[in-house]
Amino acid sequence: MEIKTDFLVLGSGIAGLSFAIRAAELGTVAIATKKEKSESNTNYAQGGIAAVHDPSDRFEYHIRDTLLCGAGLCKEDVVDFVVREGPERIQELLDWGVEFTKAKPGSSSIYDLGREGGHSMRRVLHAKDLTGSEIERALNEKASSNPNIHVYENHLAVDLIMSSAITGEANGPSNRCLGAYVLDINHNRVHTFIAKYIILATGGAGKVYLITTNPDIATADGIAMAYRAGALISNMEFIQFHPTCLYHPEAKSFLISEAVRGEGGILKLRSGETFMEKYHPMKSLAPRDVVAKAIDTELKKSGEEFVLLDISHKDREFILNRFPNIYQKCLEFGIDMTSEAIPVVPAAHYLCGGVVVNHYGETNIERLFALGEVSCTGLHGANRLASNSLLEAVVYAHRAFVRVSEMFSQSREVSVTIPPWGQQQAIESDESVVVSHNWDEIRRCMWNYVGIVRSDKRLERAKRRIDMINREIDEYYQQFFITKDLIELRNIATTALLIVRCAQMRKESRGLHYNIDYPEKDDVNWLKDTTISRETI
Ligand code: FAD
Ligand code: SIN
Repeated sequence: MEIKTDFLVLGSGIAGLSFAIRAAELGTVAIATKKEKSESNTNYAQGGIAAVHDPSDRFEYHIRDTLLCGAGLCKEDVVDFVVREGPERIQELLDWGVEFTKAKPGSSSIYDLGREGGHSMRRVLHAKDLTGSEIERALNEKASSNPNIHVYENHLAVDLIMSSAITGEANGPSNRCLGAYVLDINHNRVHTFIAKYIILATGGAGKVYLITTNPDIATADGIAMAYRAGALISNMEFIQFHPTCLYHPEAKSFLISEAVRGEGGILKLRSGETFMEKYHPMKSLAPRDVVAKAIDTELKKSGEEFVLLDISHKDREFILNRFPNIYQKCLEFGIDMTSEAIPVVPAAHYLCGGVVVNHYGETNIERLFALGEVSCTGLHGANRLASNSLLEAVVYAHRAFVRVSEMFSQSREVSVTIPPWGQQQAIESDESVVVSHNWDEIRRCMWNYVGIVRSDKRLERAKRRIDMINREIDEYYQQFFITKDLIELRNIATTALLIVRCAQMRKESRGLHYNIDYPEKDDVNWLKDTTISRETI
């Protein structure tokens, strides 16, 4: 089937939905999303969205905190406009029906403001500890009621369609994105989506690692597709490990929000001793890279499997009211956080790098935009400040809308004939077990060799293994019919390689990238991004 639309949005997290709602003012929007429409990293966001809201806060303070956290690599102009445009975008979310938790009567601000690591002020708007699902609820309701928006659930984008591949011209400046091949998972058919503008909003890459806070959708599909299409990719070495993921053999990917530490939670060793004072003056509320590395060091020293996060000294009613979701989830695993400490470990959480975009979310490929976690805007530099990613997504979705509004009246229909997806030579696989073995091997290899602490030797070891797995997957991909699992495996393998290559390039330690062979920051040579593309890898 061929589907023609003005805007093709890949992904239905905060970035895709907030762009789609605005773009529907201009034309038709097709949203292809690989699971149910609310399933996304956005849906699991707990802490909230950072923006200057309290009268005592200042744009300058939020800018300073973001820059400090980013360890010298943030683009200052980007930080400046994202922070300043924040309050307007928050108002837009409110207008679209998002209900943030209100402050107690008599407070200086209307909304209750949380605090998280690296923030010098309380500035995180939240919906208790379920901010992301509240955002998804409101935006999906808004999008569903718009006749110009059509959502295709269980539709997985396989690859972008590039004009060079259709016309046979070499990849050049006129190479344009025309749409995407998308697998309808339920009917096992690949459809051709053709659009004037294509918006990648496919989110992050947590599933590249064995232990992650991310849900199953986070398989870095957008980054891998953009890379294959010829997009520039930057700063993939900066993987943010969240310090506090629940440690329990049956708990899959459950985050214990940094807001718990923001409200007084303290990190302790199993012996009950505190340790963060040895690492940073902000102690348990230090920036995430510092806390995750400190926990990693303490765990390696003690041989223990987890540390503890203790907020049991706070009033029970306060905990129940502020963290109802975290309380309930911990209780399901037999942990009552109002009376005992929670066992936690660091886990892969957020990708600071991604597809390079300009101030309007445009990639180096004509008509292809990248918004949200899939993109690298320059806001986060070497380490993202907590709760700045939801903010980045809404600011850039708006900016991309402004840009397409300027171009829309002159934009051309796609006039070339696009061939349907073809796998004429492919057959049904009789050894699907290869997919699950490779899946497991990549994630373990990345966790062991490209984790919080790296070395040249570990990176080289990872590169050799990932290269080999990539070759094996390529062969498999040519021979057999595609499935969701195979597509996702191919994408995590490609992205793992991009992470390793960027990590090998950066011969220093900065922010989220720590290499024991170059333990110091090198501002003379490395105050710059790592950038790769399929031409340079
Ligand atoms: P996502 O919300 O991940 O959406 C991606 C969408 O793309 C999904 O709908 C997915 O199904 C779809 N998709 C992916 N691949 C394909 C494909 N091939 N074809 C079609 N569809 C596809 N940030 C904050 O600022 N504050 C927080 O409090 C916070 N808490 C977090 C808590 C957790 C547990 C996690 C995991 C992240 C948290 N983050 C937080 C980070 C933040 O949630 C994400 O960075 C942000 O939501 C990303 O939004 P997005 O729209 O770019 O991507
Ligand atoms: C959290 O609630 O700790 C996550 C916040 C974030 O990732 O920005």
